[in-house]
Amino acid sequence: MKPTLYRGALFHTPRNPFHEEKALQAFADGALVIAAGRIAACGSYAEVGKAFPDVDVRDLRGGFLLPGFIDTHVHYPQIRALGCLGLSLLDWLERNTLPEEVRFQEEPYARRMARLFLHALASHGTTTALVFGSHFEAAMRAFFETAATSGLRIASGLVVADRALRPELHSSPDRAYEQGSSLIRAFHSQGRLSYAVTPRFALSTSEAMLEACGALLREHPDLLCTTHWNENAREVSAVNSLFPGDADYLAVYERFGLAGPRTVLAHSVQSQDHELKRLAALGASVAHCPCSNAALGSGIFPMRRHLAAGVPFALGTDVGGGTGFGMLKESLHSYLMQRVSADGFPLQAAHLLYLATRAGAQAMGLESVTGDFSVGKAADFVYLRAPAESPLDEAARAAESEERLLSSVITLADAACVREVYVEGEVVYRNDAG
Ligand code: GUN
Ligand code: ZN
Repeated sequence: MKPTLYRGALFHTPRNPFHEEKALQAFADGALVIAAGRIAACGSYAEVGKAFPDVDVRDLRGGFLLPGFIDTHVHYPQIRALGCLGLSLLDWLERNTLPEEVRFQEEPYARRMARLFLHALASHGTTTALVFGSHFEAAMRAFFETAATSGLRIASGLVVADRALRPELHSSPDRAYEQGSSLIRAFHSQGRLSYAVTPRFALSTSEAMLEACGALLREHPDLLCTTHWNENAREVSAVNSLFPGDADYLAVYERFGLAGPRTVLAHSVQSQDHELKRLAALGASVAHCPCSNAALGSGIFPMRRHLAAGVPFALGTDVGGGTGFGMLKESLHSYLMQRVSADGFPLQAAHLLYLATRAGAQAMGLESVTGDFSVGKAADFVYLRAPAESPLDEAARAAESEERLLSSVITLADAACVREVYVEGEVVYRNDAG
């Protein structure tokens, strides 16, 4: 098959803007050449068009080409949990969210929700996600089977707990280990799927349960591990009481081998500097979920302290604690929260794009595969276009620089702007309306 050249305004961050100036590569009239599912070239149309004269050209001028978004923290069984405002984490779980998660013991319901969830990811331009799963094995089989047909890159796993939630959601360490092993055999490294060991959080797991999680990770060192950490002040003090022998919240996960380079810890709002220092040395990453942190009143992410400690972080929507699946909205929210924080970091458009794309690939150990348009990486990308005469369409026409154009896209683009989404050059979502 002939390579295809996609022509449009193009943005990506092949370098880390927190470490380097000029990390953003942007071309108001750009070109992306895709051959056999990979990036063959990326640059200005003037140069790339000349270098690749014998290609099929898709002229998408007026639209925007971005790397596919990477959501590092999003819950499959929480679509219906969205929109419950006014509660803090533990009450929100108890009153709103755990009852909904119990419904996933009905496999047909779980399968239907899996389809809706994966469609929601793709239709918002998310091509890769680290998905917090369900407590039920059958619901996870339904999820992985549906994910396999979605074309998306999905890492997920059975959520395990054995206390503090509600009886239907509790398992035992032996059962969690057996079910986890069986799901790993069936789905890990199958196509674009991978498995993530997923204790819900230390509050809902006994030492024996954390040990079962550690055993799975020791037996399968290429698995990811994800959980919640230092999200809410009440949660942190409850964990300190439950684990009096551990110096802090991180020490609990460290003791069971759950904090390493393939670990993604969600939230990290309440973290102390000495924990961040250790986390950086362990090579683990944080999923930063600004919409959820605000909606649940958890607090403002201490971004400067994460940067100072050298802890890598990427964005997560945290559906349903968050406010939806939009990763550009999430990155805008990150900007807004830092803006109003007394010690906030002054994020620019390059940081926001990086946090929604390449940072997520790094957190998930996929930086050599996806996250930007470097030649040889998978062709995972989103084609956005503003509806005619919409505010974004007008703002884009007036933008005086590529950075300004990207800021407008991040501020104003929503799911209605997502026209096509590709993973390895294959369409995983297309919206012909509008
Ligand atoms: N901590 C434990 N479970 C959850 C959850 O479902 N959402 C969030 N935001 N935090 C949690
Ligand atoms: Zn969460």
